[in-house]
Amino acid sequence: MLNFDLYNPVNILFGEGETDKIGACAAKYGKKALVVSYGDHSFMQQLLDRVEARLTESGVAYVEFFKVQANPLLSHIKEAIALCKKEQVDVCIAVGGGSEMDSTKAIAAGVLYPDDPWRMFVSRHDMEIAVPPTETLPTILIPTLPATSSEMNCVAVATNDETQEKAYIWTPVIFPKISILDPSLTCSLPRFQTAVGAVDAMSHVLEAYLNGDQNSPLQDRLHEGILVTIMAELKEVLKDPMNVPHRANIQWASTLAWNGYLQAGLNPPTPMHQMGHVLSALYNTTHGVTLAIFMDSYFRYTCSLNDERAARFALLGEKIFGLARAGRTDAQVASETVERIVAFMDEVEVPHTFATAGVPTDDASLDKITGEILRHGCDAAGNLPSIPPIGKNGIVKVLRMAAGRED
Ligand SMILES: [Fe+2]
Repeated sequence: MLNFDLYNPVNILFGEGETDKIGACAAKYGKKALVVSYGDHSFMQQLLDRVEARLTESGVAYVEFFKVQANPLLSHIKEAIALCKKEQVDVCIAVGGGSEMDSTKAIAAGVLYPDDPWRMFVSRHDMEIAVPPTETLPTILIPTLPATSSEMNCVAVATNDETQEKAYIWTPVIFPKISILDPSLTCSLPRFQTAVGAVDAMSHVLEAYLNGDQNSPLQDRLHEGILVTIMAELKEVLKDPMNVPHRANIQWASTLAWNGYLQAGLNPPTPMHQMGHVLSALYNTTHGVTLAIFMDSYFRYTCSLNDERAARFALLGEKIFGLARAGRTDAQVASETVERIVAFMDEVEVPHTFATAGVPTDDASLDKITGEILRHGCDAAGNLPSIPPIGKNGIVKVLRMAAGRED
């Protein structure tokens, strides 16, 4: 285990009905709130009415910004920042999924940011001019989609719609003050959103497990426990969508998957996310789907690259699928582990190839995707950080596998 510095100040209110505490929570931080939600918010109008009623009861006025979209846009964040300044908002509240939560963090920091808000975001292209925010308005997040762990981390991702770059703010300054995790709010999630959210959370666990420090047995067991829980509970929820206890297990597991606790001591790179962000920026591919694509192609590419990799994937298969290792090589078990992960994607009906995800597979498109991964996801030497680091040839191979043009 590596040295680490763990700081997570987020106050979590967890459980069915906790949503009704939003008024009292917001009143701690001021008299006027911005409520941020999805552009097509009709499916959660009841929830928004409930949140706004509780704010009114607690003497908190509010203005609405209901324009956020999946893969949230910098232009919307800028528009909301202007609204906050005009309305002199004290606290920003997100009601929705990762896009609403990330946007809300960026909006709240952007209100107090003295420069173009894009400079708060770090990306490979403009890393040298990025300046993280040093202060923010307080934020309160009410997630309706378990997936990103945005509710308990200090990351906010957005796409610059002028340059098509997807980039992130990552600084303790933007930790939310309070997150209200009410699993009953997730019961109305459609089947697809439920599944891709869970797959995103699985990918967070797998990024760290496979590419973080490899000598942290306690962290390994925590990762395996979260993975087993998400996979089992997702199957239950897809059979019985209104089951709050199963929804609760997925929600808490997803929050723990990327809130810093599991990553402590591992310092993991995130190769699947680096590649996935490029697909989302270029083709608006759903975040969880991009990760399913690389849990197929990248895993198949990397699982048996060397003895160490084969042993790691074999251990994963033993722990999460109960695969027998006696009498078999690690490479054989590693391959079966990846086959079982891909079969799970099929079982929960999440696309995991370019063709089924709507990503083009022609040479020019693969060249473009490769170039963007090299530009945004790779280090100065041109390698995608992972175990082992992947150079341009490896990236091309992974993309050709995802495109169904190479086994
Ligand atoms: Fe993610």
